[in-house]
Amino acid sequence: MKIGVVNEIKPDEYRVALTPAGARELTQRGHEVLVEAGAGAGSSFPDDAYRSIGASFATAEDVWAQADLVLKVKEPLPAEYALIREGVVLFTYLHLAANEALTRALVESGAACVAYETVETDDRRLPLLAPMSEVAGRLAAQAGATFLEKPLGGRGLLLGGVAGVAPGHVALLGGGIVGYNAAVIALGLGAQVTILERSVDRMRHLEEVLSGRVSLLMSSSLQIEESVIQADVVIGAVLIPGALAPKLITRQMVHEMKPGSVLCDVAIDQGGCAETSRPTTHSEPVYTVEGVIHYCVANMPGAVPVTATKALTNVTLPYVEAIADHGLAEAVARDRSLARGVNVLHGKVTYEAVAEAHGLEYAPLEDVLPLTPV
Ligand SMILES: NC(=O)c1ccc[n+]([C@@H]2O[C@H](COP(=O)([O-])OP(=O)(O)OC[C@H]3O[C@@H](n4cnc5c(N)ncnc54)[C@H](O)[C@@H]3O)[C@@H](O)[C@H]2O)c1
Repeated sequence: MKIGVVNEIKPDEYRVALTPAGARELTQRGHEVLVEAGAGAGSSFPDDAYRSIGASFATAEDVWAQADLVLKVKEPLPAEYALIREGVVLFTYLHLAANEALTRALVESGAACVAYETVETDDRRLPLLAPMSEVAGRLAAQAGATFLEKPLGGRGLLLGGVAGVAPGHVALLGGGIVGYNAAVIALGLGAQVTILERSVDRMRHLEEVLSGRVSLLMSSSLQIEESVIQADVVIGAVLIPGALAPKLITRQMVHEMKPGSVLCDVAIDQGGCAETSRPTTHSEPVYTVEGVIHYCVANMPGAVPVTATKALTNVTLPYVEAIADHGLAEAVARDRSLARGVNVLHGKVTYEAVAEAHGLEYAPLEDVLPLTPV
């Protein structure tokens, strides 16, 4: 199969959908890799790194025109809509439920569109979202520690303390992937960490893997209030799948936090879990409300493309290999997780929530494509 990789044109996006290491795995399996020149530059992968593993280069137009499978990171932008054509398989983050114009463009294109974010295992894990949550969780703890510094507007506290001086407190709302990873880094910095969770099973698991080094508390509004007010860094990491984040932190709680403390609302991509949160960008990551620094960057992994690109390719590559080796029809017949990723196929919307979101007709995948392995 001919596999194409294009440059990401979304502002502030430096990731690329395939590393040279991933490209080599594909060429070794007998596939061709076609890369738009400069596509890996933002992630520190020069063209030569792809050239040395036998990839060829083309313009974005030619990659779209020639490739059987196009790999991207972010959803196509309007400037790219006209390039998406029938017969191509597009594999990328799509987030179609929030984007009607793109959904309609993909339906009209006739392309097969597989969304990273809806690839879902039988036990309801989202393997292609998880690495970005790992990155965001780790970054959140770093951002919290950094913005506590006085010259950056913080209260001037070293999160880990020193011998004879107590460390700072980090309160984590939500102990899922973001919460766990934020806890690991905050603990590494020497902070005192509290995780507020709703799931007792999840708390039991965290108790075990973090060897009792964090306080685990049931998330009630009273407990949230107490923990938020006494924390130096609060990290919002809750998720209710398919819903907006619950507003667990009220403006009054923020008002009662210590001046110069930091609220890092990672759940901002789902609307944020504080009443005072609004999305920010890497070029202007923070703002202050009620004396509390708010860090609410909606695409946190974009700050660390070298790490995020590798973490993304690590998890997408097995699916890319399956599509390349077998073709999409057989690959989805063999793997139900991948089948759940197919959002648009042959001009039909095959993902129910996307069809519902835009009042479009829903066609179950098995009606559009036979799912029995051949
Ligand atoms: N800003 C970014 O760049 C970025 C990057 C990755 C993920 N995220 C977001 O971070 C959030 C967390 O993602 P995740 O992968 O860790 O999700 P996850 O499903 O692994 O974890 C969410 C956790 O929140 C818990 N929870 C739900 N309601 C709660 C409540 N009321 N109180 C306490 N805990 C509660 C759940 O039990 C679960 O353990 C999501 O909104 C995700 O979209 C943002």
